[in-house]
Amino acid sequence: MASNQLDQKSKAWSALFSEPMSDLVKRYTSSVAFDQRLWQADIEGSLAHADMLSAQGIISAQDLQDIQRGLNQISQDIAVGKFEWLLDLEDVHLNIEARLTQLVGDAGKRLHTGRSRNDQVATDVRLWLRGEIDVLQGLLTNLQRALLDVAERHIDVILPGFTHLQVAQPVSFAHHLLAYVEMLSRDAERMADVRKRVNRLPLGSAALAGTTYPLDRARVARTLGMVDEHGEPQICQNSLDAVSDRDFAIEFTAAASLVMVHISRLSEELILWMSQNFGFIKIADRFTTGSSIMPQKKNPDVPELARGKTGRVVGHLMALITLMKGQPLAYNKDNQEDKEPLFDTVDTLKDTLRIFAEMVGGQLDAQGQRSGSLTVNPQTMEQAALKGYATATDLADYMVKKGLPFRDAHEAVAHAVKTAQAQGVDLSELPLSTLQTFHPQIEADVFNVLSLRGSLNARNTLGGTAPAQVAAQIAQHRNRLG
Ligand code: ARG
Repeated sequence: MASNQLDQKSKAWSALFSEPMSDLVKRYTSSVAFDQRLWQADIEGSLAHADMLSAQGIISAQDLQDIQRGLNQISQDIAVGKFEWLLDLEDVHLNIEARLTQLVGDAGKRLHTGRSRNDQVATDVRLWLRGEIDVLQGLLTNLQRALLDVAERHIDVILPGFTHLQVAQPVSFAHHLLAYVEMLSRDAERMADVRKRVNRLPLGSAALAGTTYPLDRARVARTLGMVDEHGEPQICQNSLDAVSDRDFAIEFTAAASLVMVHISRLSEELILWMSQNFGFIKIADRFTTGSSIMPQKKNPDVPELARGKTGRVVGHLMALITLMKGQPLAYNKDNQEDKEPLFDTVDTLKDTLRIFAEMVGGQLDAQGQRSGSLTVNPQTMEQAALKGYATATDLADYMVKKGLPFRDAHEAVAHAVKTAQAQGVDLSELPLSTLQTFHPQIEADVFNVLSLRGSLNARNTLGGTAPAQVAAQIAQHRNRLG
């Protein structure tokens, strides 16, 4: 290593230290193996800082040029895998800075003027996370679109709606899927809200107390796009807080946990629905696996893993929130532990959203032909809805409309269900004369409400499962997603 800094680092931190770090401690404290993925954010932040230093006359225009040249070279080298990451240089920041100095000399050593790794790393993580949130927003949209596509094709398909996993009332399959679209739309709102607080600038706080150089933090914020919807720079206002709190990462992981929880609920349903006992759906073979011993098996590994990975992401939330607890102001090395949970949360979420969009919506080929999406078995769903007296509430509502108080109607229908159960038939299969024994005003039109379709059509209030409502909901979601 030609650079003084590199030579020095492989010995001791500075002249103050009488011995170098032990190898064990080096490995324990080094983060470069995982934080190197922040390199683009690190370089972007350094370029913005250098540009401001030069504009403020703190470094010369020549220094700025040298820094830009060096950092561009480093970007290219990293992008093609030619950059040598050194454990000895601890983290992504020191690796890039040391290489810069090696490439451009003193200008590289001036880059760190008015800056500390504490405000540098906080800025890097925020920049990186902002970019990932934008990617995640696109993936959340794709999954919502995939669910809407399937919903649109199944507005009139009926399945039993459950409470307590007992057949409750018939619902449209599209309506059921739209419940997940609603959840994901709130997830997207939450992510957008988190993004506002992620997108604030710590740089300029230096180690903890601010700096003696006349920095222009607003300029750096603008360069880095850390501005609100009116273009106003968003700057962390307290240097101690700026370098030390990771609440933005915690918030993000909480929002990510909710996305995973929603996907986990959907997973659980897909798993149930494709079991032989339900037989409601099939997912394409490429999302399932076989068994090494039972040749007949097709297992829903993807939804099962998503359900399992939800625990992993919720675990990361616990890790981050516990990491923060008990840290005195300001920066502490504990914070280096924020990265792996955060990175893994992002990776897990991206993979899960991608795979679900494809598993639900399938792939469209160049001819617009869809392949491999969720396939639905409407007959089985409908048969299942007919099993559990799912239209009992409709019969009660019918009696109420004939003048019976609801509680009495509820009781009368309980008797009707008991009778039907004893005969092994559905309510709609009881003869009119039998039904009339439960309430004399029951007429032949009762069979309209006892049918699954009649029950569905009757729930025509906002948010209800009637096909007209469901179609309107789909249109609204499409409109929202643009
Ligand atoms: N690698 C460190 C981290 O991730 C960078 C900041 C180090 N600052 C320090 N004062 N040791 O947090």
